[in-house]
Amino acid sequence: MNSPLHNKTAAWSARFAEPVSELVQRYTASVSFDQRLALVDIRGSLAHAEMLAAQAIISQDDWRQIQDGLTRIRAEIEAGIFVWQQDLEDVHLNIEARLTTLIGIAGKRLHTGRSRNDQVATDLRLWLRDEIDQIGFLLKTLSMALLDLAHAHADTIMPGFTHLQVAQPVTFGHHLLAYVEMFLRDQQRLMDCRARVNQLPLGAAALAGTSYPIDRMRVAHTLGFDGVCRNSLDAVSDRDFAIEFCATAALLMTHISRLSEELVLWISPRIGFIDIADRFCTGSSIMPQKKNPDVPELARGKTGRVVGDLMALLMLMKAQPLAYNKDNQEDKEPLFDAVDTVSDTLRVFAAMIPGIVVKRDAMRAAALQGYATATDLADYLVKKGLAFRDAHEAVAQAVKVCVAQGCDLADLSLDALRHATSLGGQAELIGADVQAVLTLEGSIAARNHIGGTAPEQVRQAIAVARQTWLRLFCEK
Ligand code: ARG
Repeated sequence: MNSPLHNKTAAWSARFAEPVSELVQRYTASVSFDQRLALVDIRGSLAHAEMLAAQAIISQDDWRQIQDGLTRIRAEIEAGIFVWQQDLEDVHLNIEARLTTLIGIAGKRLHTGRSRNDQVATDLRLWLRDEIDQIGFLLKTLSMALLDLAHAHADTIMPGFTHLQVAQPVTFGHHLLAYVEMFLRDQQRLMDCRARVNQLPLGAAALAGTSYPIDRMRVAHTLGFDGVCRNSLDAVSDRDFAIEFCATAALLMTHISRLSEELVLWISPRIGFIDIADRFCTGSSIMPQKKNPDVPELARGKTGRVVGDLMALLMLMKAQPLAYNKDNQEDKEPLFDAVDTVSDTLRVFAAMIPGIVVKRDAMRAAALQGYATATDLADYLVKKGLAFRDAHEAVAQAVKVCVAQGCDLADLSLDALRHATSLGGQAELIGADVQAVLTLEGSIAARNHIGGTAPEQVRQAIAVARQTWLRLFCEK
């Protein structure tokens, strides 16, 4: 038969008067990037052929030959000796052509009751499902590394910031736990997305279903799908699952980017809260003293790529009429890029976090600047009976005195403190016990409730987060 599956120079089919031009062939081919789907394509084809045989749509002998042929092709691909041909357009036609070369007529029966439209949608879902599982595992590894670091620093005091100004003391462990919360939500979103990825399009054929007596549930079961796509038009045209993944990936990267920004600030000698192991940093080609945090900087930059991948997919879909359109071939590269970028970033972060050296003294010194315990003094006055707004004003007065004298609230003597806060007769409210609330330790220990920064709470929160991660992975 003179078809493009067998003859490179032939027209697409008998319906065509001439072959596709070289230029168009290059423009429309996707095999250079979609060969990445080869193994899931074979998995999908095996499940489809098995069902065709079980339903007596093809013979048992055809099925055995298809199985043998595809197994051989899989080995060729894994060994790197499979010859990919651009003139065979995409991964699907390359594999089908090779199958027919290997086993003859039975190979030509594989595509019965199927279209590349439901085939490619199935491949993409199978591939993404595996990647989501891998990304979840990496996210868990990173979160566990953060939890270990948080545990080691449940008592380490640093300044907490708002507006990048010293606000109140917090523990470094508490600060790290904020990222663990973000990553937990990311994992929940990934799992939620996975449930919608894991629906089988096969059986939709080109767009309207097929006239053969197929058993879609059988194929779904073989391939580990939770169910089948309910509408054939939607099954071949839907790419929501890829968009949802990219949205989740973009948000995950946004969290990584925020952490990166903090790491870059913390490692700066101007702040000097942490050091990152040398193997994650680079020097400068001109300035011998430099040690640059390239990894977090790149992660911050790569966040833009993943947001771009999401935008590309949204734009790809926005004007497509039902059902399949060739536009959809453009879904792969952004999706692959988002998966690769997120996976690589998580891998390098999980390796980098355990190598972080925390400079407790620098953190503590910074927390002692900027009147981080001013709120504690106001709270102290409230507990002695003053209304909060009055207490706020009295402490603002005391801070003003400290600014003028260049000292901290804790440096003021009891008398000086009483004097400084004596706006409305509250001086008498202050006793010697005030010194305890003005210390950093007193401040953090006081925030002893769920979600607070007290070391006791931080340790409990770490235990809860560990449990949650373990539970998420048992449930799957
Ligand atoms: N390479 C194509 C894609 O990625 C496969 C589906 C082709 N379908 C078609 N009707 N031309 O979308």
